[in-house]
Amino acid sequence: MIAPENNIFKAATSAPSNIAIVKYWGKKGVQEPVNPSISFTLSKSITKTSISYSHNDSGLSIDFLFEGRSKEAFIPKLKTLSERLVKYLPFLESGDLKIESSNTFPHSSGIASSASSMASIARALYNIQMQITPNFKEASKPAMISEMARLGSGSACRSTMPGWVLWGETPLVSNSHNHYGISINESVHSVFNDLQDTILVIRKGAKSVSSTTGHQLMDNHPYRDGRIKQANKNIELLLGALKDGDFKTFSKVSEEEALSLHGLMMSSSPAYTLMAPESLRAIKRIIKFREHHHIPLTFTLDAGPNIHLIYPKSQSKIVHPFIEEHLRVLCDNEEVIFDEISLQ
Ligand code: DP6
Repeated sequence: MIAPENNIFKAATSAPSNIAIVKYWGKKGVQEPVNPSISFTLSKSITKTSISYSHNDSGLSIDFLFEGRSKEAFIPKLKTLSERLVKYLPFLESGDLKIESSNTFPHSSGIASSASSMASIARALYNIQMQITPNFKEASKPAMISEMARLGSGSACRSTMPGWVLWGETPLVSNSHNHYGISINESVHSVFNDLQDTILVIRKGAKSVSSTTGHQLMDNHPYRDGRIKQANKNIELLLGALKDGDFKTFSKVSEEEALSLHGLMMSSSPAYTLMAPESLRAIKRIIKFREHHHIPLTFTLDAGPNIHLIYPKSQSKIVHPFIEEHLRVLCDNEEVIFDEISLQ
């Protein structure tokens, strides 16, 4: 071990959030997905994390500060994560670990903060292990960091690399894996290289049912098998659309996945809804606008009421006035967040 002067190892990292087009919904084993998913990584919605670690032999203690304040509620998640990661990062066996995170985007705004936070924490923890044991498994770094992020939050494994990421096994992509995400940027047409993701913050605030609970409700869901089939079919359609630059199919898959996700929630036992009346109003306005103007414009939703409006940058001239005139008014405090794909 190379000990720094005061025996405190430090790492500062960051990671962006991502938005899934084919959704991960349902788990098996330890954080493995029941179906493959595809997302693109964002560029502006980022979690920054600093970690300091000092070794002692009295077991692992974890402190977590979010935006400068102690956040006890996150400690059990971090404890579970460290127990899962100790086989990769032996330093997690014992010592004092202090983790501080902050987001560049507003909290509970419909941007997946667990993806960016777990991805940045995985990066920082890896970095600490590298300082302690410099030759530490560097060859497998991208897959390993993605795998470690997955053990914190499934969707986080897609946030450790830029652009288009596939997570989960599919016979269509030979190196696809349930344990980590892989980049598929090389198989994506340039039409999708500058996608915009504008988030209509329909409702701010914590969700009534967490994604983790939503995943669990898929275990005995009456439509489970159908959903897995649908996701695999949509992976095939999406891979083809991304390759061919076919926005129409891309759009069909994106909307079908978003609405199916919410349909699955409404048909869970117990059933629940996360959409708000304004979510549906926005969807109807988007579809009507697209039909009128014949432009490439689509949407998706995560497990919440907020709408992600997706379009190539070249359409901003026409889409931005539409947002200002017809969509902003549907948002909580008229909040809209402009983000876009990050390819690096
Ligand atoms: C609807 O990754 O947040 O956003 O693994 O329990 O942390 P955990 O769940 P999480 O689920 C994300 C679900 C989704 C779809 C997606 O991002 O693929």
